[in-house]
Amino acid sequence: MPTPDPAPTTYEVVARVLAERKHLAGPLLPVLHGVQEALGWVPSAAVQPIAEGLDLSRAEVHGVLSYYHHFRQEPARGPVLQVCRAEACRSMGGEELLAHARQHEAHRCTVEAVYCLGLCAQSPAVLLDDKLHARMTPERLAALVDKRCAS
Ligand code: FES
Repeated sequence: MPTPDPAPTTYEVVARVLAERKHLAGPLLPVLHGVQEALGWVPSAAVQPIAEGLDLSRAEVHGVLSYYHHFRQEPARGPVLQVCRAEACRSMGGEELLAHARQHEAHRCTVEAVYCLGLCAQSPAVLLDDKLHARMTPERLAALVDKRCAS
């Protein structure tokens, strides 16, 4: 029976993403997005090879990485729940939903704030493991997290 291929290392992922995206205008953000898409986060070990690949300093890469909350600097715990904090969702209880999620769901998943999920007309909106959910309530959210965590 063949052994499964080991997961790619951070350096392998960075090398692949650099090869795909370093030619783009303003390549740092696309490269950071690519690494997070591949690994689920951007490890500190990725900073040096990204800096070398783009001819930037480590401080420049780290500055951008830490400025944007979108980029995870540690792996997510369980399912990733993103709660919208932009205006339409705020006006429909998004802040309360986020507070509820952080208080009640944070031990079962990674709770993150985001700024518009494109469902403004059906706010408040959340994204749970890349699936959008509209007109969310704390009760529906708890049921969704229960279901997602059970599967
Ligand atoms: S403001 Fe929340 S989805 Fe647009």
